[in-house]
Amino acid sequence: MIAISLNVNGERVNRSVEPRRHLIDFLRIDLGLTGSHAGCEHGVCGACTVRVDGEIVRGCLVLAASLDGAEVVTIEGISDSGEVADLQANFVARNAAQCGFCTPGMIMTAADLLAHGGTPTRAEIREHLSGNYCRCTGYQAIIDAVEDTFRARDATGGPAAAPGLQSSGAGR
Ligand code: FES
Ligand code: FES
Repeated sequence: MIAISLNVNGERVNRSVEPRRHLIDFLRIDLGLTGSHAGCEHGVCGACTVRVDGEIVRGCLVLAASLDGAEVVTIEGISDSGEVADLQANFVARNAAQCGFCTPGMIMTAADLLAHGGTPTRAEIREHLSGNYCRCTGYQAIIDAVEDTFRARDATGGPAAAPGLQSSGAGR
């Protein structure tokens, strides 16, 4: 076992982990943060997307033992902070989640694009989300929701508050 100390969604976590424990299993099983989903577990589908030290990664490809001192943020973290309240509201408005399995990873990846600011084209949004697979929606509604969020932020100068959605727990 390997002792690690890291920050998860703003809270210090100290644990001992098996050397081959993947981050997605560490989050879901050891910490009970089940918002991030385990799909292919081979780095293909994007369902396990989380943020490590400010960059999105695939939780199924990262070993928890390598994360001593890291800052990890999951869908629970960006949902509870309100960072993506407007994006979540637009997912609802556009019916961009059906079974919801891909949704936490989609929102993590879209939030990464939103954090870079600017006004990406639909093609650029599609390209940024291209590593996140969705079996249900056909992607159009997801692109619509992300595009709507960019437009609204562009018009208002930042993330729009969406009262009542800050702790909606998308994907839990
Ligand atoms: S579960 Fe990690 S990419 Fe599919
Ligand atoms: S909503 Fe079902 S996989 Fe995307």
